[in-house]
Amino acid sequence: PAPGWTVEADVVVVGSGIAGLTVALRYAELAPAAKVLVVTKDVLSAGSTRWAQGGIAAVLDPRDTPDEHLSDTLLAGVGLCDVRAVRTLVTEGPGALHRLMERGARFDRTPDGELQLTREGGHRRRRIVHAGGDATGAEVQRALVEAIRAASIEVIEHALVLDLLKDAKGRTAGVTLHVMDEGARDGVGAVRARAVVLATGGMGQVYAATTNPAVSTGDGVALALRAGAVVRDIEFVQFHPTVLWLGAGSTGQQPLISEAVRGEGAFLIDHAGERFMTGAHELADLAPRDVVAKAIMRSMSESGRDHVHLDGRHFGREKWESRFPTIYAVCREHGIDPATEPIPVSPAAHYASGGVRTDLLGRTSIDGLYACGEVACTGVHGANRLASNSLLEGLVFAERIAEDIHRVRPRPGEPVANPAEAGLADPRIRPRIQAHMSTGASVLRSRESLLATAKALREARWTPVRVAACTESWETTNLLTVATVLTGAAAARLETRGSHWREDFGARDDNEWLGHLDVTLTEEGP
Ligand code: SIN
Repeated sequence: PAPGWTVEADVVVVGSGIAGLTVALRYAELAPAAKVLVVTKDVLSAGSTRWAQGGIAAVLDPRDTPDEHLSDTLLAGVGLCDVRAVRTLVTEGPGALHRLMERGARFDRTPDGELQLTREGGHRRRRIVHAGGDATGAEVQRALVEAIRAASIEVIEHALVLDLLKDAKGRTAGVTLHVMDEGARDGVGAVRARAVVLATGGMGQVYAATTNPAVSTGDGVALALRAGAVVRDIEFVQFHPTVLWLGAGSTGQQPLISEAVRGEGAFLIDHAGERFMTGAHELADLAPRDVVAKAIMRSMSESGRDHVHLDGRHFGREKWESRFPTIYAVCREHGIDPATEPIPVSPAAHYASGGVRTDLLGRTSIDGLYACGEVACTGVHGANRLASNSLLEGLVFAERIAEDIHRVRPRPGEPVANPAEAGLADPRIRPRIQAHMSTGASVLRSRESLLATAKALREARWTPVRVAACTESWETTNLLTVATVLTGAAAARLETRGSHWREDFGARDDNEWLGHLDVTLTEEGP
């Protein structure tokens, strides 16, 4: 649709989690006279960041070193991390975390005032800071939203970003967006800007069951694909091993049971009450996430059940209430008492390790378009992200992006008309997309399952009805785009590596396959 109104900004940041808000705050510090505009699909505090439980990983203990954090990250990433990106992450992480504290975030401390550090899967040291026990994301989001308000940064809420505007030379010139609020800026409009930062988060809603909130519909990756940007390693979807099992067929956002629960000593048991991680990996229940998710899937298939249990009874009620208040409350809400019974858990879609390909300054393959946080593929996660590196990545690369935009000062020309738009998908096919993805392209994949999924997605696309442009149809279009590209990439990666588990390829093959899969959209498809 043609924009009905236009606003001007220097930088437009799309998304309001830790990545987007940190870019906006840092840029506003660097260029106080410039106009930074944050646009967000829901309210400022919605999005994945506030759901984060475990915490933020950073080298803060004097016995820990950046080299050890680097080594744990590389091991989890199974050969596909960009070592320079990981080195940037682990060396700049502690400073970025301190600046987050200066911006107002308060983390849990020991009685003598030191930051309390916990462990999660794949970490050989205690290096994860947390807030409110298991409510880290909520505290980070609170602090950043307050900082945005205090800095008087302009925000447009309830605004779904549709497409990238480019100038005649193919440089970023702004975005079109659909504002759903009633008021002066209702309907489709445009923001003209020198730089656009995608910080739209993840795509967990492409699956039937996910830890991601309803807003995580892959909007940034879909926009980037439509704009011609390169998307990398999108097949690496991380499934969180321990999500509260709410009964067969439960769909949508599912409650997370943080890895920090295992970090503090809880362990997985099968239906016979036996521990199955001991002996399966040297780190047992704290093995990297893909290893634990696969072991759970194996245990479930051996027992014919659709969940296993997480046993933290030995914590006692007081520790559950004080250290994990969010998880304790959510379990009680669902009739489970973790102080007296093991918690039923199963894996669910959690995090996109791949995304819009960027360099170490967050630049994508399109001039003036940046990507930050889960939507990006900076190279720090490889084939499987290490726990609690995601909020850290958002922080570190957000600062680099703000600094790069300030240094480079992109100067695009006039936006040129959008290329003809693809038809919108019927919102009613959303559950079908999610069901097909969960059946054929989730934890366990094979050639047959992926081809069947690709076929089902092609068929779902062709709906006879004329679809009105609304949030639901745009989101469904984005989900379909992302699902199609993800399934294609998963079918093309003929190996098992990290979170990409191919039933028809036993082991990873570093001779044949130690590489990335880059995807762009052409008129014919991915
Ligand atoms: C968790 O708390 O287990 C999630 C942490 C993460 O995804 O990094």
